[in-house]
Amino acid sequence: MMFDLGLLGVPIAGAPMAGGTSTPELTAAVSGAGGLGFYGGAYLTPERLREDIRAIAALTDAPFGVNLFVPEEIPFDEAAFAEYRDRLAPLAERLGAPLPEHVPFTDDHFDAKVQVLIDERVPVASFTFGCPDAATVARLHAAEVFVVGTVTCVDEALIARESGVDALCAQGVSAGGHRGTFGILDADPGIDTLPLLTGVADAAGLPVIAAGGVASRDDAIALLEAGAAAVQVGTLLLRCPEAGTKQAHRDALADPRFTETVTTRAYSGRLARGLVNEFIAAYSDAAPPVYPQVNTLTGGIRRAGSTDPDVINLWAGTGFRAAQAVPAADVVAALSP
Ligand SMILES: Cc1cc2nc3c(=O)[nH]c(=O)nc-3n(C[C@H](O)[C@H](O)[C@H](O)COP(=O)(O)O)c2cc1C
Repeated sequence: MMFDLGLLGVPIAGAPMAGGTSTPELTAAVSGAGGLGFYGGAYLTPERLREDIRAIAALTDAPFGVNLFVPEEIPFDEAAFAEYRDRLAPLAERLGAPLPEHVPFTDDHFDAKVQVLIDERVPVASFTFGCPDAATVARLHAAEVFVVGTVTCVDEALIARESGVDALCAQGVSAGGHRGTFGILDADPGIDTLPLLTGVADAAGLPVIAAGGVASRDDAIALLEAGAAAVQVGTLLLRCPEAGTKQAHRDALADPRFTETVTTRAYSGRLARGLVNEFIAAYSDAAPPVYPQVNTLTGGIRRAGSTDPDVINLWAGTGFRAAQAVPAADVVAALSP
């Protein structure tokens, strides 16, 4: 039987958080607590994704979801890339980090990973950075996979509905991590979670998971009362022991020195929200909308500076002060209506 959001014991979803924050343990803990745990499948090889899906299924009988980034290949702006590379060169040198001159486009093995989701018959698949085409959604449906499309405005919601998705994840501007905005070059629609939820629910007529800036049970209840089928949190899970969050990132979330979040293209070329640190302050003005090449470009710097909160990406939503170092099941329970 295909998954349905109405079957959840608790209408709380744990956000997919690719790049090492999602772990099978975190996903299973959220699902095991009656919520819907998502796993971030981006940046992984298809083989690793398959192993991790099997690890989640071994940890819980409860339904869970897996998220992928939809690739978009736009003409490569070589000049902008080279200029940004030059700008980063002194930092790379100071850290002894590699700074590649040529970075190829990658679609992150999208088709192979969709096939993994189908083979493994994951209960839920969610997508961000765009929407898979109708044929891909139909293949997922044939394997009884429930499909969620992440959107940041009404136009994107209507495109996702055309593709045949079963539900939408409405990601408001306060959300931590990458914005789901479909086009790399698109400006962020910048809509708050509550008006985005009501706008896309009215326009698309699909169940909506509301995400972005949720810091308390009251925040969750307000979204559920406004019609959300579930509420998704990412930032609130970052300090959980089950998460793969780097120690420097965990510490920064609780450090009074870090006071605000902004959206920036500095780390990846796509807009993402994180705590303002020296890297964001120094490079945001120069970062071009060149994704995924800028993401690969900064990878060596981020690895070399992995213990330095002024180098790594400290993804966080506006509610970051409420993130506690407690088990994920406690976060889910504390948000339960
Ligand atoms: C560290 C981190 C990584 C994220 N990675 C992904 C991802 O891989 N895929 C995705 O769809 N959303 C990702 N997001 C965004 C979340 O799905 C969600 O929209 C957001 O966390 C909700 O806002 P909140 O952080 O204020 O709770 C990420 C968020 C964070 C904080």
